[in-house]
Amino acid sequence: MQRKYDIVLLGATGFTGSLMVEYMTATFPGSLRWAIAARNRAKLEEVARKFKVEASGGSIIVLDVNSETEIQKVVKSTRVIINVIGPYPTTCGPIVFKACADYGTDYVDCNADMPWAQDMIKEHDKSAQASGAKMIVTCGLDAVPADLTTYLAVSHIRKVFNTPTREVIVSLQEMKGIISSGTIKAMASVYTLYGPGRYEEATAPFAISPRKPISEKVNTSLFPAAGFFGIHTVNSLGRVVESQEQGNERAIVGRSWGLYAPDDPNSTDGYGPNFHFSARARLPRTLYDFIQVLPFLGLGLFLNFSFTRYILTKLIYPEGYTPASKQLKGGHRFSHRTLGVADTGDESTAKRVIVDFKFQGDQYKFTGIAMVEAAVTLLEGGTEAHRIGGGVMTPAMLGDNYAKNLQRPESGVEILIRAED
Ligand SMILES: NC(=O)c1ccc[n+]([C@@H]2O[C@H](COP(=O)([O-])OP(=O)(O)OC[C@H]3O[C@@H](n4cnc5c(N)ncnc54)[C@H](OP(=O)(O)O)[C@@H]3O)[C@@H](O)[C@H]2O)c1
Repeated sequence: MQRKYDIVLLGATGFTGSLMVEYMTATFPGSLRWAIAARNRAKLEEVARKFKVEASGGSIIVLDVNSETEIQKVVKSTRVIINVIGPYPTTCGPIVFKACADYGTDYVDCNADMPWAQDMIKEHDKSAQASGAKMIVTCGLDAVPADLTTYLAVSHIRKVFNTPTREVIVSLQEMKGIISSGTIKAMASVYTLYGPGRYEEATAPFAISPRKPISEKVNTSLFPAAGFFGIHTVNSLGRVVESQEQGNERAIVGRSWGLYAPDDPNSTDGYGPNFHFSARARLPRTLYDFIQVLPFLGLGLFLNFSFTRYILTKLIYPEGYTPASKQLKGGHRFSHRTLGVADTGDESTAKRVIVDFKFQGDQYKFTGIAMVEAAVTLLEGGTEAHRIGGGVMTPAMLGDNYAKNLQRPESGVEILIRAED
């Protein structure tokens, strides 16, 4: 039986959610059946009025997000659920995840809470495979640029050099933006709920991959180890420093490696048996640039300790703090550069592919666009996720179709790929 909605957005009243509503009304065709949902009627109606949701073909759903019955009702009548209600572990995240896995509803979230994602995979991957629910997790700034550019670099290496990939380094080259209280709350909740030990475990290389590599080479980089303060120079990336935030990216890319891997562990199909991944950030050239990028590099460090966590969550980003919309118009942007090295068998780094991923706009706008376009790609079909059929998946499983949709003229995303030999 045909479901009532193509897409439903849960959490439309939040900071990221309302940016998504603006993008949905600007880009959705009249033929799409979609709705925005949240718990607070007055706030939801205000968002709907502000962005002219009903005039753009959308509708609104007010629901008790803590009621399993109400969530199930919406999930059963929808083809793709986007959930942006966070923190995921302590709000309705688990109920929504379970319902989508059970009822074969495709799903997109932007959780950056890897221990929670690991639990959801353990509990619901099998039922999602059985029901045919394609569940795309961590589909925001964390970890779309890293995960998708890794996939694109691997595909291009295969096309140009006809080899698997030996190594990928993703580097955050530039970042100008803000951080919402929703992000701080979500990150703080990961540290208080799970503790750093569990976070390390969930973000270890291949920790959430459906299979483990057998080659020892996955543990070694082709590039010289970083020196003092983790700084070193990598040809094509410049002077870079190890990224404090690389855990989520490493975990998600590791899962993509496992989902694309062939059944035969000795085969060179997929990303390749010797694939090594790491993330960096380019060292800022000026003190001003350093101050801009510091929060994105060091948040995890501050949230690790209860005293600094208290200062961040109670004083700097108190509950309900939302960056003003004018703060989003300050020339915000970010860019990533991904270096992929072909696995030629001689441990050389000569055959390479560079993928540049650039976004003109704020990172929260990007996270919203990334989730909306993932949902649209799921509706359109024809991706690796559709070929596999169901399960907990990563943004990379939406592959080239997703990269194309992300570069719509309205989105502000630009992806450039080139080979070097
Ligand atoms: N992966 C990434 O790169 C990335 C980027 C951005 C955001 N995120 C994640 O996205 C999530 C949302 O971030 P945000 O900045 O948009 O947060 P936000 O502004 O605080 O919005 C949160 C949304 O969740 C709802 N909500 C909050 N607590 C709730 C509860 N206890 N019960 C039911 N609904 C609740 C809010 O509803 P009300 O309006 O009714 O309060 C609102 O709709 C966070 O988990 C954040 O980590 C991830």
